[in-house]
Amino acid sequence: MQGRFVRESASEYSELALPNDANGLGNLLGGKIMHLVDLCGAIAAMKHCRNPVVTASVDHMDFIHPVQIGQLVRLRASVNRAFNSSMEVGVKVWVEDLIRGGEKHVSSAFLTFVAVTKDGRSVPVPPVIPESDDEKRRYERAGERRAYRLAQRRRS
Ligand SMILES: CC(C)(COP(=O)(O)OP(=O)(O)OC[C@H]1O[C@@H](n2cnc3c(N)ncnc32)[C@H](O)[C@@H]1OP(=O)(O)O)[C@@H](O)C(=O)NCCC(=O)NCCS
Repeated sequence: MQGRFVRESASEYSELALPNDANGLGNLLGGKIMHLVDLCGAIAAMKHCRNPVVTASVDHMDFIHPVQIGQLVRLRASVNRAFNSSMEVGVKVWVEDLIRGGEKHVSSAFLTFVAVTKDGRSVPVPPVIPESDDEKRRYERAGERRAYRLAQRRRS
């Protein structure tokens, strides 16, 4: 199968933090940020394989900085590496204050998406062709993380 460049599927997504999604402190719920991470990651994965995908796993997530209602949540996702039917996607989240300007890093996550048929069977995806040094580093590390995930799955 013909490989695809990371830049061909790199995706951005942004959403204004609205009061409906606030916690008791008036900040955006962590679960809402996780939802946006899943969406943005899925868009990159689907653009890479041009096929429907399901989320198979989300690695560890930390929330480094709160998002206040009225601020803009910005996300960027790229496919780090494709294996057989699965793809590791990295998603980074920032918050931008639209009035004062400036942005802060909120969270980052690695997700695994699997390309599936309508009846849920996994299907092969094109390989990723890394170009820049950063893309090559992410590609290598994605292989190490997959080995760790497979070992964890075997253990559980
Ligand atoms: C993800 C899913 C399709 C995998 O099914 P499966 O029977 O394990 O399929 P396979 O054995 O063919 O594995 C397919 C790929 O998924 C990967 N995979 C399966 N479970 C995984 C997990 N928990 N984490 C990371 N990768 C996983 C396998 O490593 C394999 O990768 P590869 O093809 O690149 O080698 C299936 O578990 C599923 O449909 N889960 C529900 C997904 C869903 O509904 N998500 C929405 C959020 S709830």
